Order: sequence, then C-alpha cells, then structure tokens
Amino acid sequence: MVKVFFVFLFSLIVVPSFAQPTQTQKIVVSGPSAHLVKAVKDVYRDGGNIFDAAVAGAFTLSVTHPYFVSLGCGGFALLKDQSGVQALDFRETAPSKVGSNFYVKSGLSPTKTGSAVGVPGFVAGLWAIHQKYGSLPWIDLLKPAIKLADRGFIVSGQWLKQTEDLSENFNLSGRRIFFHSDGTPYVPGEFIRQKKLKEALRLVSRKNKTLVYDGVIGQDIVKTVKANKGIMNVEDLRNYRVRWLKPVQFSFNGYKVYSMPLPSSGGIILNRASQLMEKKKLKKLSLYSVSELHLLGEVLSFSFRPRSQMGDLPDPSRYLKKWLSGTKLTKLSSRISLQKVTNLPVLKDTMPVRESNETTHFSIMNHLGEAVSMTLTLNGNFGSFVVTDKYGIVLNNQMDDFNTHPGKPNQFGLIQGRNNKVQTGRRPLSSMSPTIVEKNGKTVMVLGASGGPMIISSVLQTLYRYFINELNLDAAIQAPRIHHQFLPRALFVEKNRFSPVVLSLLRKRGHRVKVRDSIAKVYAVSKRKDGILEGAFDAREEGATGGF
Ligand code: GLY
Repeated sequence: MVKVFFVFLFSLIVVPSFAQPTQTQKIVVSGPSAHLVKAVKDVYRDGGNIFDAAVAGAFTLSVTHPYFVSLGCGGFALLKDQSGVQALDFRETAPSKVGSNFYVKSGLSPTKTGSAVGVPGFVAGLWAIHQKYGSLPWIDLLKPAIKLADRGFIVSGQWLKQTEDLSENFNLSGRRIFFHSDGTPYVPGEFIRQKKLKEALRLVSRKNKTLVYDGVIGQDIVKTVKANKGIMNVEDLRNYRVRWLKPVQFSFNGYKVYSMPLPSSGGIILNRASQLMEKKKLKKLSLYSVSELHLLGEVLSFSFRPRSQMGDLPDPSRYLKKWLSGTKLTKLSSRISLQKVTNLPVLKDTMPVRESNETTHFSIMNHLGEAVSMTLTLNGNFGSFVVTDKYGIVLNNQMDDFNTHPGKPNQFGLIQGRNNKVQTGRRPLSSMSPTIVEKNGKTVMVLGASGGPMIISSVLQTLYRYFINELNLDAAIQAPRIHHQFLPRALFVEKNRFSPVVLSLLRKRGHRVKVRDSIAKVYAVSKRKDGILEGAFDAREEGATGGF
C-alpha cells in the first residue's frame, strides 16, 4: 500500500524521463537527471552564472546518481567564457605506493575493493571551477545537493537497474545505505535519503575542498580504502592537484571543435576521424547507406588504432605530431578501401580498449555563448563498490583504466601499452570527450556522452549527423549508431536499428558485425541559426533537458 502511494506521488512530482527536447532563450541544459536540470535553472535564475549552475548541478548528481558520480569520483570539463575555452582535468590519480607492478605482484584487484581506488578529483575540480569562474558563494552551490541528500528523492527505473541483484557486491556501509535492511533494492517510487552524505556535503559547503583533501572526509576515505585492502594515504589526497589544459582543437566542416586532450584519448581520436572523413569525402555518401556505414567504421578503426600508445604522457608533443599530422593521415587514408575492410597491423605495444560504460555527462550553454561540458565517472557502476564508513561516499575503481598488468599478453595475445602503465601521480587513459563547437567564435553546440570508448564514436556521429547531414539536434542524437575501436576487429551496430540486408552487405565487405543493445548516451545542447537554444538527450537512457 505504501509503495502504491509512493508510485502515485512519484507520477505527480517527478518530471518523467523521456527524450523530450527543449527550446529556450537564455540557458539550456541537457543531462542525466531532472534534479540536475532544476539545480542548474534555479541557480542561474537566482543570479548565479553558468559555472555556478554547473557546479551546483554536478553536486546533485553525487546524491541522485551515486552509481556514476560521487565525492569519490573524477572527471573532465570543457569550460568556455568570454576569454575562450579551457579544459579541466580532475581525474583520479594513482596513489603514491601503487607502482607499475603493483597488481601483478600483489594479486590485488584493479576493479574491486580498496586497491581499485584512485585518488579522487571531483571536489577539487568543482572547487577549481568555482575559484576561476564562480560568482556565488560556494556554500550556495551545495544547497540543492544537501537538500536532496537530506530530504531524499524518489528513485527511478535506472536506479533499480543499477542496484538490482548487486547488494552482495558492496561493503557493509554501501549495503546499509543503498538497500533496505532485508537487502532488497529501492524500487521506482520509493524515497531514499543519505544522511551521512548530507553531513559530508554540509561540511564541504562550510569549508571548501580541504575537508576532502586534508580533513575529516579525507581521513574517512583513507581509512575505508585501507580497511578494504587498498594503500592510499593522507599525503596522496593532500598532493592531489587539478590540471588546466589546452583543449584539442580541429576543424570540422567549417566549424571549430574543442575536445579533451590527454589523459583522454577522445580529442585526439575525434581529430583524426574528422581529418579522415574529409579526406575520404564521406559526406558525399548517402545517409545510412552500406557505403557510408562501411566508411564510417573504417574511419573509426583507423582513428582508434594509436590509442594503444596513448597515456598520461608528460610531454606528448612528439606523439601528437605523429598522430595528428595531415600528411601522415593523407597517406593513411589512401589505405582505406571503399569496398573492403582493411585490417591494419596492430601497433607495437598494443593493449585492448577495455573500459566501463558507467559514466555520465551534462552540457550547458547560455545566450552569451558561455558553456560547460562535463563528464563524470566512477568508472564501473558504483566504482569499487566500497563506500566510506563515516560519510557514505562511493569510491571509484578508476585504477582499472590503467594498464595494470604490463608485459602480460592480453586476451588477443598482445603486449599491453607502456604509456598507460601505473605510475605515481599519473592518471589513467580515458575516453571521456566533453566537447564544444564554435562557428566564427560563437558557440553552436556543447556535447558529450557516457559509454567508455563508445563515447568517442557517438560524439563523432552526433557531430556528423547534425553538422553534415543537417538533422536537427534530437534526430542527430537518436540516429542509429555504429562503433569501431580497431581492436577487437569488429563493427558494433545497435540492435534493431539496421536492416538485416544492410548488415549482410556489411559482412560481405569483410566486417565482423557485432550487435549491441545500444551505443553510448549523448547529452547535447545547441544554438540554432535563429538564436533559439535547444537541448536534447538520448532516448537510450534516462535524462532530462530544460532551461528558460
Ligand atoms: N572510465 C571511463 C573513462 O574514463 O573513459
């Protein structure tokens, strides 16, 4: 009876999650939750700027989406104000005592328990945005999140999907917070409160980031990591620093695209793909034709190939010249056949792309062209499944994005990439690709996605469908997608989105076609030629858009 009542209440209060595009004039946001959208709108309406709104929105996700985002996660952002576009890296860092052979020698896990946890950057990242761009007091930016943790919010279908049958994976603290006392998950329509997290957010709002990096919250993180077989120490947190970086820039059919540089592979691969598409005149081919899909797959495969050499390199300039050189890409493009798959040889030092999909993203822009594109991740769903005892913070398992077993042949019998080995102070290679697009200096699109390496393919295809095929924003996002990441040698296609005839013709061209339920989730906003701001999100997942 109580449940029925909650379900009824739920249907009255919560903005339903369906892919409903929005058109606005002053500010527009697209992201995974209606609570984020509300926080962004409220903060902006109350006199905050777009960066205040983004910080407030991100904090709400640490409450409502603890399977993707927490005070123990990390991320990347692209931020644009009147002075230009900056990239911010607040990704997790390897703890000082975890070296390149740590996982081989110790036999400990890079995916589960405290040994999987990288030093988190989430709060430091939001604090850095506030320091550089913020206009409202920090304390105000945490109010929406504190309210959600304190009063609770109604869980959605996605919550159930992310928790169902998983209670045994958590440590005791996690089980107590995210499940009923009998171990059953919360179901859509039920409220969940997080009192411990509320206290952490309240403390962070009163002080600043120092409590996480040099105070009681940090001690809670370290204590929990150590109690669960990890070896992080307080100095690791104290030494954590965000990095301001120059975004990767490239032109795309007359537009200027900014995306994430290393330690993300995203911007580099997008840049390569854009060059190859142009050299192969992809836009001459008709939408969804076998030739178009074939060529798109080959462009992606060729673009992903050097990912195995990427990593958090102190000086990547030598490599960047090699990966992005127009002359080299022209030569490479001549090896792409319009009729047959070309299986380029595997590069020395190759590792498989093996990343989790449980990431999320939101995009915001206003009528002034200011923009925030932010991707956040715990890596796996609920990260390491370790939740801190005192403050109920979910800890990431980002260490698994490093090459944790160097020298050992991977599942393809290949030796893994050297440049992504675990090293003190280094960050694991990522695919997260927050992106901003300009035309003549004016912001026209802000986008990003969740979905591990499929993020890159999906951002590329959204750009392509919108700017080249001229679909509207919603149609460009909902359009069927493919994915190729060089290894495995397979063309991934979305289930039920392509005709069997098309798939069989792709097989005839040599593609090993593999069907997936869906390929990533995109959240994007854009400015139309008539000045209207639009927001749309992927119907492949829950989400929300809004603005005014
Ligand atoms: N952990 C997913 C990514 O960083 O790409």
